[in-house]
Amino acid sequence: CQLDKWAKAAGLKYFGTAVDNPSLNNAAYMKIARDKDEFGQITPANGQKWSNTESGQGRFSYGSGDAIANVAKQTGQLLRCHTLVWYNQLPSWVSSSFSRDQMQRVITTHIQNVAGHYKGQCYAWDVVNEAFEDDGKFRQSPMYRAMGIDYITHSFKTAAATDPSARLYYNDFNIERCCNAKINATLAMLKTVIAAGAPVHGVGMQGHSRVGKSPSKPELKNTMAAFSLLVEEVAYTEVDIRHTKLPTSAADREQQARDYLEVVGACLETPKCIGITVWDYTDQYSWIPGQYPGEGEACLWDKSFNKKPAYTSIISMF
Ligand code: XIL
Repeated sequence: CQLDKWAKAAGLKYFGTAVDNPSLNNAAYMKIARDKDEFGQITPANGQKWSNTESGQGRFSYGSGDAIANVAKQTGQLLRCHTLVWYNQLPSWVSSSFSRDQMQRVITTHIQNVAGHYKGQCYAWDVVNEAFEDDGKFRQSPMYRAMGIDYITHSFKTAAATDPSARLYYNDFNIERCCNAKINATLAMLKTVIAAGAPVHGVGMQGHSRVGKSPSKPELKNTMAAFSLLVEEVAYTEVDIRHTKLPTSAADREQQARDYLEVVGACLETPKCIGITVWDYTDQYSWIPGQYPGEGEACLWDKSFNKKPAYTSIISMF
């Protein structure tokens, strides 16, 4: 049995993985990434971000995003599109000194072009990513500085008008474990923008966490229950559970397997949880060692494409 087959049999819509452009040339990697029984869904790890799609104002380029989207087209895997409006990997021309009107026009143009280019191809779009600091305050992004919370409402409305068939998500990290200031701020924001007419269909919980410190199933379920009151679906969109000490022991890897099971179990027991995406499936291409030096081995397969206990325990849960 394989992950997506297993997930569908258990009632989910998909089990997926992020795929980044450099790995497209690795045949061993792609054999597994394209295996629809393993991954029914893929997400471009970088290709559709603002810095890739509109690096200069009004200059759009889709090569990196298309390379991943084309894999999904060929295999029939669902494509989660990621992401339209984010403070990070944002080109510097999107400036904090824009007026409200300028920023609104810049966001409109960006979304109309990018979501327009991928129209009909995206199961879901992460329309807005990471709007909050961990303490629940709005991030002082150029978008927030110019427009306040209205940048979120405007982004969702524009995405809906551009690609009416995509499920539109708000996506963030550290909103998995109930309850904290960031989750409360996210709930309040969602109420406000939905009341203002923004079609928010889903909340994506990224799901980056650390072995032994990862949220428990009840904590995860409580959060999803709260989001489920406001939106039609929720999903884990970028799961990886990293070891903070390397190298790992067999016991560490068993702990990691138990931590993954909490996430998978929580999703299975939440009616509106539709799927789980890992932020790449192999330690060979994980972003973790680059982002958190000295940490890693966060994925379901090791660097040499061997399945880890976390993989086998997910499958054996069924
Ligand atoms: C990461 C990519 O995996 C890296 O390759 C890149 O250098 C930085 O971004 N939250 C997100 C993702 O929403 O887009 C990030 O992806 C990981 C954190």
